[in-house]
Amino acid sequence: MQIGVPREPHASQSLVAATPDTVGKLIKLGYELVVEQGAGDRASFPDHLYEEAGAAIVNTDEVWDSDIVFALDTPPTEYLDKMRQGATLIARMAPGRNSDTLQALAQRGITGLAMDMVPRISRAQSMDVLSSMANIAGYRAVVEAAAQFGRLFTGQVTAAGKMPPATVYVIGAGVAGLAAIGTANSMGAVVNATDVRDETAEQVESMGAQFVAIPAPAQESSDGYAKEMTADQAAAAAKLYAEQASISDVVITTANIPGRKSPILLDAEAVANMKPGSVVVDMAAANGGNCELTVPGEVITTENGVKIIGYTDLAGRLPAQASQLYGQNLVNFFKLTTPEKDGILHLDLDDVVVRQMTVTLNNDVLFPPPPVQVSAAPAAKKPVANVAPAEPEPEKSWFAKNWWMLVVGVLFASLIISAPPGMTSHFIVFALAVVVGFYVITSVTHSLHTPLMSVTNAISGIIVVGALLQVPADSIAVKVLTFFAIVVASINVFGGFTVTHRMLKMFQRS
Ligand code: NAI
Repeated sequence: MQIGVPREPHASQSLVAATPDTVGKLIKLGYELVVEQGAGDRASFPDHLYEEAGAAIVNTDEVWDSDIVFALDTPPTEYLDKMRQGATLIARMAPGRNSDTLQALAQRGITGLAMDMVPRISRAQSMDVLSSMANIAGYRAVVEAAAQFGRLFTGQVTAAGKMPPATVYVIGAGVAGLAAIGTANSMGAVVNATDVRDETAEQVESMGAQFVAIPAPAQESSDGYAKEMTADQAAAAAKLYAEQASISDVVITTANIPGRKSPILLDAEAVANMKPGSVVVDMAAANGGNCELTVPGEVITTENGVKIIGYTDLAGRLPAQASQLYGQNLVNFFKLTTPEKDGILHLDLDDVVVRQMTVTLNNDVLFPPPPVQVSAAPAAKKPVANVAPAEPEPEKSWFAKNWWMLVVGVLFASLIISAPPGMTSHFIVFALAVVVGFYVITSVTHSLHTPLMSVTNAISGIIVVGALLQVPADSIAVKVLTFFAIVVASINVFGGFTVTHRMLKMFQRS
């Protein structure tokens, strides 16, 4: 079968649905490829690269007259008129909003495969163009914010002074949100994030951000997407978003509820309380926006100096990369539907992925497809047996909880009293060192454990030196204590070196 890759009819569309790389992969699946002259120009893929990959360069009419036509979005009807009956169009179609397009396809006997209908199930991840584009857009959102923000993202200590890191707050931790978190984190910002779905907390933390939970019961999703919030939740969430926005330098909003207008998360008052120079990137701008003041497609500056970025083409601002991912998603779909590598598209409507994507088949409209349960859904909660609530445990008294401190105190006091007069001051210093050391060490964050280990190694070195000085002592008790001090301190010193050596080896090239 022949696949046609047209130059996108919309002048604002910088992507192309196949790159020289993906053209080569489709040819290996047995297809014949024709590419419209200049189709990849806007994404930096000149015609000669397609020719080298094995495609023929043709004119507009020839490309639309193919068995299968690839596109980014559904083209205007004059292009559908160029398609032959029985042909297949593959594009993002937003079928829920565009019933006219579906009718237009069915009237012309064109089979429509909507790439934006790929279900969010593990097996279909490699074909999920929405995730591919959201991932790129999330990255680009941070780049755009950094370009508008008048300071560095990373903190630095320089000869001229200290610069604190920027604080980035991401609302909505779906694909775009997680990509934004990862990018902002890698640029050195301190990142916080919120999502209505509590199940995202772990993903947020794994990307290096802190999860800020909404103080209201979380919405559980049954399809990998969020549900609309109740009024109480929305009020609690709005308060949290406004508070976080007022202390953040950059806010990136990605909240999305499929099939609905995007929820407003930041109203004019919340923006008015933000710091001058701070930046909001409203990724949902195309669908109504998450910020009341967003102007789709534009960057505006409010009276209090907050910049609001409403670009709706964030993925399109990285056209080469976005085209490659889109094209690869199509290749993965064709691997599924061309198992024999015979260059023939087999649409098996019993396959849930194919069924979801097939919005028209010849003259029939097949949208909406039957609902699909996706793997991202949390496991259903087990029903709780109807048992009487357990009696709360009685609160323990201070003495019951801390008796051991009393025992240690008594033992220590008797040691001080029975010790020779010269030892008393040493014991007091020792006791104070234990208390201070306990509070210092338990407050050190994980990332500082390596330098902390170096300090304890140094202290252990001092202990070894002190113990060695005591070796010639006459008392057998001192000799035994000396021996144990040297053994225990040596374990710390040599163990520390061994661990450090192993850690350094992990960073060495093999
Ligand atoms: P997604 O559905 O994977 O993620 C959206 C997240 O927002 C979900 O985790 C959901 O639980 C959360 N959410 C929904 N309502 C919320 C609320 N009230 N408060 C906090 N979190 C809430 O969507 P994806 O793929 O990450 O896309 C995010 C947005 O980015 C969408 O609106 C999409 O249209 C847009 N987008 C924009 C682009 C652009 O160029 N501006 C390009 C690609 C995507």
